[in-house]
Amino acid sequence: MPDTLPELAAEVEKRRTFAIISHPDAGKTTLTEKLLLYGGAIRLAGSVKARKAQKHAVSDWMEIEKQRGISVTSSVLQFDYEGFRINILDTPGHQDFSEDTYRTLMAADSAVMLIDVAKGVEEQTKKLFHVCKQRGIPIFTFVNKLDRYGKSPFELMEEIENVLGIRAYPMNWPIGIDGKYVGVYNRELSQIELFESGGAHGQWIMPSTMGSVNDPTFAEIIGQDVHQALIDDIELLDAAGDSFDFTRVKNGELTPMFFGSAMTNFGVRPFLESFLKLAPAPAARQSTDGPVEPANEEFSAFVFKIQANMNPAHRDRIAFIRICSGKFIRGMAVHHVQTGKSIKLSQPQQFLAQERAIVDEAYPGDIIGLFDPGIFGIGDTLCENGRKFRFEDFPIFPPEQFAKVQAKDTMKRKQFIKGIEQLAQEGAIQVFRQPDIPGEFFIVGAIGALQFEVLEYRLKNEYGADLSMFMLPFGLARWIDGNDGSKPIKGVEKSAIVKDKHDLPVALFSTEWSLRWVTEQNPSLRFYESPTIL
Ligand code: G4P
Repeated sequence: MPDTLPELAAEVEKRRTFAIISHPDAGKTTLTEKLLLYGGAIRLAGSVKARKAQKHAVSDWMEIEKQRGISVTSSVLQFDYEGFRINILDTPGHQDFSEDTYRTLMAADSAVMLIDVAKGVEEQTKKLFHVCKQRGIPIFTFVNKLDRYGKSPFELMEEIENVLGIRAYPMNWPIGIDGKYVGVYNRELSQIELFESGGAHGQWIMPSTMGSVNDPTFAEIIGQDVHQALIDDIELLDAAGDSFDFTRVKNGELTPMFFGSAMTNFGVRPFLESFLKLAPAPAARQSTDGPVEPANEEFSAFVFKIQANMNPAHRDRIAFIRICSGKFIRGMAVHHVQTGKSIKLSQPQQFLAQERAIVDEAYPGDIIGLFDPGIFGIGDTLCENGRKFRFEDFPIFPPEQFAKVQAKDTMKRKQFIKGIEQLAQEGAIQVFRQPDIPGEFFIVGAIGALQFEVLEYRLKNEYGADLSMFMLPFGLARWIDGNDGSKPIKGVEKSAIVKDKHDLPVALFSTEWSLRWVTEQNPSLRFYESPTIL
């Protein structure tokens, strides 16, 4: 392996590439905006309400862009803060929930799990959390909306442990009473930070006063009772809680926990500063040639998302790549491992709402968009010419919704099949076949309902094929080991056995309960969440 370069190592060291994971409405858009505010990328945060009005029309990020006139790509948002270069990856909200949401996490080095103080750990957060956990990336927790009534901090720590199976280590602790918190206590420094009101919806950076917890002035300001309750809580945490062990954070066994309010800004800056110090810089990634160090001078990257422009006026496909090693320079030639072709990266883009900015240089941890003439697939590797390794395969995320689709007009059969195949290659949908059942149709699997809408829209607009689509009553897919699908499986109808793109048998189930029942009825078989061979 070639040498590492000191200036490259310095660029890597200052990068923090992460995703915010949360259930819709927990405040991801608001927190993202406030991180921008504190990062100096915007001077005034907008009212969330105004954006909400048209939220379904455009993505949250595009909306931030339009309102603030700042540079936000459709996939990543980049800004600097105190010597760090921050890349926040967009994990779309509820209406946009799809495999893209999961795949984006493959490009992140850490995740911030945002939890609504009143609602606790919600469904979508759980799903995203498990993907992060499987990847072994550190997860930081931000409990949001502390300006409102909610669950107690102790209750939330317990909930995180019981529901997600990870211990929480509070880095700070809210001061005040439920619904009226006035500041946070920093456990590392034994310091109190009290916040003043940030004005309407926290448009400005919030002024605060900091000092030692033992300073009697604070007891006077916040009241003796509140001060005593804080001291008691801290004693309890110190005596009964976990100790802070960074190795456990890195292994995904412990989550540093922060409290605040994205709306009023309280706790946002302490969170950002502590997070940036603790969150990992880009690290080595596994490849067929062993680990690839980010400061290795040879460029390498992988494709984690392919986005077809829904605007019929620009029918381009964009492949988003995450740089893993070396320096990216515009115009460089790279080797596309999957096709064996050499490609010149002459038009690397960062995609903005109104304009497209050309990227001249980028470093490990950065994300760039490339025009895709139809050659890239999810998980593909690009490396500097002369090298031919591949990064580890992307996991297949088991679909949760299924539909039977066929061309409405048999004359459009060819276009229909071509469209389905291309969209499957792009990773927009997963396609299964039922070889024994007559008729020209596919079973399409997806994680979110949006994927079906996109399928219908794109087949019509790009391939000229109208679809007949019937939703199927399945919610789980399991790859089968021990039966090629040809012999009957107890408790599974023939129509619920399909083949994936590698011809591997997959059983579809309606509920967890039916999966458990079938597993018990067929002890010689094993049912996997994702295929064992790829
Ligand atoms: P999302 O991207 O995770 O879906 O959430 P988003 O930021 O859009 O916030 C969802 C709602 O939660 C918004 O309220 C937003 O104002 C509110 N919110 C976000 N952070 C906080 C917080 O720290 N405290 C409180 N009290 N609310 C917060 P909305 O009702 O949709 O709009 P609005 O009427 O509040 O403007």
